[in-house]
Amino acid sequence: MYVTVNAAMSADGKLSSRRREQVRISGPEDFARVDRLRAASDAVLVGVGTVLADDPSLTVKNPDLVAAREERGDSPHPARVVADSRARTPLDARVLDGSAGTYVLVSDAAPPDRREALEDAGARAIVAGETRVSLPEALDVLDGEGIERLMAEGGGEVIASLFGAGLVDELSVFVGSLVIGGRDAPTLVDGAGFTGDFPSLALEGVERLDNGVCLTWNAEDS
Ligand SMILES: NC(=O)c1ccc[n+]([C@@H]2O[C@H](COP(=O)([O-])OP(=O)(O)OC[C@H]3O[C@@H](n4cnc5c(N)ncnc54)[C@H](OP(=O)(O)O)[C@@H]3O)[C@@H](O)[C@H]2O)c1
Repeated sequence: MYVTVNAAMSADGKLSSRRREQVRISGPEDFARVDRLRAASDAVLVGVGTVLADDPSLTVKNPDLVAAREERGDSPHPARVVADSRARTPLDARVLDGSAGTYVLVSDAAPPDRREALEDAGARAIVAGETRVSLPEALDVLDGEGIERLMAEGGGEVIASLFGAGLVDELSVFVGSLVIGGRDAPTLVDGAGFTGDFPSLALEGVERLDNGVCLTWNAEDS
């Protein structure tokens, strides 16, 4: 499986404000780039923190891109994948609106009734990990389901776990021209942070978009 992490951050590296409310960081050119990336993916992954904060649908917005997927025999939209150890995804979340397939990655600690409610709402539950979702195990299962290109759209906790497990192949970041600030505001890579063996990257692309810049890196084997 090839994993691309994509996010938009402020000039000071924040994904949103300390209130964890969505901030409009990018503009139409970057939205179009993200839409193309989604359309080229088999599945899109987010953490439950992003579902609770932003309630994204994670679908492809441009009808031409949807039509092109259908012409090549793919589903209209990539599958949605939520890392949700305790099955906290609200049953009225947009990721459960039926417009695309949805996987919920849960741990053994997820209350069975919550997990069943998510399955009744149309999601497929994948159990991986004891108290927190094991992303390496869950991504193996998704790989077996035919998901070859996974786009991870955040947030900072899930991105940190992907880097920690050495699962990132490519990183694309739109850097917008605003400062959000705040020591408690989510950053691109949160988690506990690294103190050595820092994941290292090779810069591949620099593109000016909207009032900002899109940077693309490939992961280097450490
Ligand atoms: N600018 C952007 O591009 C962008 C993109 C996405 C999000 N955001 C912003 O980021 C914020 C949300 O970020 P976040 O860091 O709180 O949320 P997140 O990374 O989306 O979700 C974090 C949650 O995912 C669950 N999770 C399950 N397995 C995990 C694993 N192996 N590793 C890490 N987490 C795992 C954890 O909850 P459980 O243990 O309960 O499962 C964890 O608290 C919001 O403010 C949103 O607006 C911005």
